Amino acid sequence: MKLPDGPRIPNWLHTIQLIVRPFEFFDKLAQQYGDAFTIGDRNNSPTVYLSHPQAIKEIFSAAPNLFESRQITEVETVVGKYSLVVTDGEFHQRQRRLLIPPFHGERMRTYGQLIRDITQQVMAKWTIGEAFSVRLAMQEITLRVMLQAVFGLHQGLRYEQLRELLCSFLDTISSTLKASLLFIPALRWDLGPWSPWGKFVRLQKQIDQLLYSEIQERRQSMDYERTDILTLLLMARDEDGQPMTDVELRDQLMTLLFAGHDTTASTLTSALHSIHYHPQVKSKLESEIDTIGIDTDPNLASKLPYLNAVCQETLRLYPVIAHTNPRHLKAPLEIMGYQFDPGTTLIVLSYLTHQREDLYPQPRQFKPERFLERQFAPYEYLPFGGGHRGCIGMAFAQFEMKLVLATILSGWQLALVEQRPIKLVRHTTTYAPPSSLEMVVTAQRQSQKVLSTV
Ligand code: HEM
Repeated sequence: MKLPDGPRIPNWLHTIQLIVRPFEFFDKLAQQYGDAFTIGDRNNSPTVYLSHPQAIKEIFSAAPNLFESRQITEVETVVGKYSLVVTDGEFHQRQRRLLIPPFHGERMRTYGQLIRDITQQVMAKWTIGEAFSVRLAMQEITLRVMLQAVFGLHQGLRYEQLRELLCSFLDTISSTLKASLLFIPALRWDLGPWSPWGKFVRLQKQIDQLLYSEIQERRQSMDYERTDILTLLLMARDEDGQPMTDVELRDQLMTLLFAGHDTTASTLTSALHSIHYHPQVKSKLESEIDTIGIDTDPNLASKLPYLNAVCQETLRLYPVIAHTNPRHLKAPLEIMGYQFDPGTTLIVLSYLTHQREDLYPQPRQFKPERFLERQFAPYEYLPFGGGHRGCIGMAFAQFEMKLVLATILSGWQLALVEQRPIKLVRHTTTYAPPSSLEMVVTAQRQSQKVLSTV
């Protein structure tokens, strides 16, 4: 086996660096070893990080059956063993075929009005002169949108309960410290509702009860006209004509709720920060958004080129996920002249690809124009990963981001409470701007008159 060079550090030190200072750690490794490096015991399941576009192209186009996900147990603890994120083979591909369509094309566009309505409802709580936590506001919007897309639930007791419980549940794993307390098996002691593990299992049980009740009720009175994802999953049959079990359904629902809202909320937060940190970006964006008028089809916002470029640049510079999920090799594979044996873990380090000077000149700068001047290939620009495990919510997340930003910017004038750069922090299994990032509403914009009548 021919592996790329890399630091000879013990696994535990690697893990600590990844948790505490991931981006600095990757920057340092890139300086020393370039766009491919190996970490861990080279003779026993090494992990190889790759960020060269050619390597990414080869990995994304390799046959899916060469890999298995063997996901870390913490992910499985949250989303369950049937989740799309942890399954492999035909089951995984079948679930993907089922879940991708509702998040694309015409089905996705039916959520346009809803996204605008929910954004306006959350904005309506803002008061001029009052500061608010951007991340919490964005989380509220994206969670409400996801609950509607997944369950068709927009109002009602179960919806409100689910929303509150999911927020508390996410909070139990929001920081590195909280997550470590939960995911180190030796620390999983249920010492009552105030202990970290005790709180986690109780919340999980309450959420499961609500999910299973919803599944039961829907099974009993099936409404084939509904377009939400739960209905779709309830109607699905495998090749033997069997429907999904309740546990399988629960795991996919939990996956979508977990993967589908926090990531978008964090990226929206970074986008709002960047827009207001760079006044020229803000005024250019406002001029573009004003051209469509707010009382028109909400989906028009998704076609605005500069807004699209702002979202893409935000995803590049502020990655909520720094690399793809690990791909564990089941068979030998050659990538860019390296020979990898079965047991090797390959990780595409998109963060470093997005920092390449040859692709993104002055990579540390926020320059949306680069996305207007050049088209990037899927192995040069990959905030959503790619290949057989690429993000199923890619189109939906970008659509949602554009609509939320257009709605906010056409309705309100906002300002950062503190005019300083942001640094992403660890948040659940992702990275996010700190929840202490605040903005203040300075005025309503003209077009808000139209908004308030909706
Ligand atoms: C800004 C928002 C988002 C970002 C940056 C993001 C990014 C990613 C990345 C990097 C992966 C791993 C891809 C790979 O290993 O190649 C992924 C996987 C996944 N994402 Fe997203 N995502 C976002 C939003 C969403 C949304 C809205 C949904 C739900 C509709 C979603 C559902 C999933 C699922 C289910 C997977 C696992 C796919 C699989 O293993 O087959 N994500 N996402």
